[in-house]
Amino acid sequence: MSFDCVIRSGTCITASDTFRADVGIRNGKIAAIGTDLSGTRVIDAAGKYVMPGAVDTHTHLDMPFGGTVAKDDFETGTIAAAFGGTTAVVDFCIQSRGQSLQQAADTWHAKAEGKAVVDYGFHIAITDMTDAVLAEMKTMIHAGYPSFKVFMVYDFRVSDTVLMQALTQAGEHGGLVCVHAENNDVVTSLIHKHLSEGKTAPRYHALSRPPLAEAEATGRACKLAQITGGPLFVVHLTCKAALQEVKRARRAGASVMAETCPQYLLLSQDNYEEPGFDGAKYVMSPPLRPKENQAPLWQGLASGDLVSVATDHCPFDFHGQKDMGADDFSRIPNGAPGIEPRLALMHEFGVNAGRFALNKLVALCSTNPAKAFGLYPHKGSLAIGADADIVVFDPDKNVTLSTSVLHENVDYTPYEGVQVTGWPVATLSRGEVVCMDGRLEAKPGRGQFIRRGAPSFL
Ligand code: URP
Ligand code: ZN
Ligand code: ZN
Ligand code: ZN
Repeated sequence: MSFDCVIRSGTCITASDTFRADVGIRNGKIAAIGTDLSGTRVIDAAGKYVMPGAVDTHTHLDMPFGGTVAKDDFETGTIAAAFGGTTAVVDFCIQSRGQSLQQAADTWHAKAEGKAVVDYGFHIAITDMTDAVLAEMKTMIHAGYPSFKVFMVYDFRVSDTVLMQALTQAGEHGGLVCVHAENNDVVTSLIHKHLSEGKTAPRYHALSRPPLAEAEATGRACKLAQITGGPLFVVHLTCKAALQEVKRARRAGASVMAETCPQYLLLSQDNYEEPGFDGAKYVMSPPLRPKENQAPLWQGLASGDLVSVATDHCPFDFHGQKDMGADDFSRIPNGAPGIEPRLALMHEFGVNAGRFALNKLVALCSTNPAKAFGLYPHKGSLAIGADADIVVFDPDKNVTLSTSVLHENVDYTPYEGVQVTGWPVATLSRGEVVCMDGRLEAKPGRGQFIRRGAPSFL
């Protein structure tokens, strides 16, 4: 029996097991896991890890925000993802006022088609809830868009009433509601206060969005999930106080999950003090936090209260986009890049630093997000019958992060100069080699829309 491709002699790492094996691929699927397999193409993985491709369930590709558009589109963004070992992204499709959810999805399909190099799905961000939209949630869940996002902050925020409606509807039809939790009144009052005092520098972005504003909204969303019985996923959780709310809700039996992102584990509010206008590079919402929040987040990953690590990749150039807020921090487009180095950063600062095992790395970056968002077992698993979405990871490769190394289409990285040992050296999507030894082998447009199934509670 010969295979289309064999990944030979690697150490396979799943969310639960570690073993030496060859992986045989046929027709885009994993067809065998065994020894002495032969194939048309053989990838030598001796001394390397073979892991299910990473799954990034929080990206903003080609997204309009604050009068500009995120720099990575579905071509450049998924290329960068693939070089980082990510084989599936779930992007946030934003409903415009008056649009149906399907119209919003169609807008995002048009952005992705012909461009993506890895597979992609869409969460639908509901910004304009009506009776028709509420009813349409059910249709979207069954059409492969089982997750939604609502914002409790920004102009396109929703009321608690709408959040309750969304939770109830998602609960009845097997969907999941993601929430961006910050208290809008706190944030708008503090922005106004700082600007009226002439405090316009990037550091005031963080001071206008304190941890307790996130914790209050997180706690409120968790309680609404408890009251309605609806399933909630708190995205980009940043701080100890918000994590305590999630833990409380989970201990009380609520269907509440949460993720964090590498930036909240590795960077801090101190970054806003960098010279000149450099602090703008870290303007994202919620903002980077005082350092003492990092240890509780790592602990939350270890305990399972934080189920996954996603990127919130939302890149804006420092020159030409971030500088829209040179005289007013509230005009700096919110977001930072990170789609490419996630797996390597979590390997370095999670595994190499002794915080967790390799299997946990796979759980956090691949298997858990795949399960929580209905991509499992096609994605996020190294098993016979699963999509052959695979990353070969060299645990000994030294890389110094820099824009010259990364493929993200943006003029800076928040991780400039950070050294890691361990880097993805080959990425396969449905059995096709997308990247190999730093070269792109796949053509834009090969990535397919993932019609997702039911989310699981973790
Ligand atoms: O600042 C951020 N996070 N920008 C992306 C949009 C969002 O709220 O996730
Ligand atoms: Zn239903
Ligand atoms: Zn958000
Ligand atoms: Zn986001």
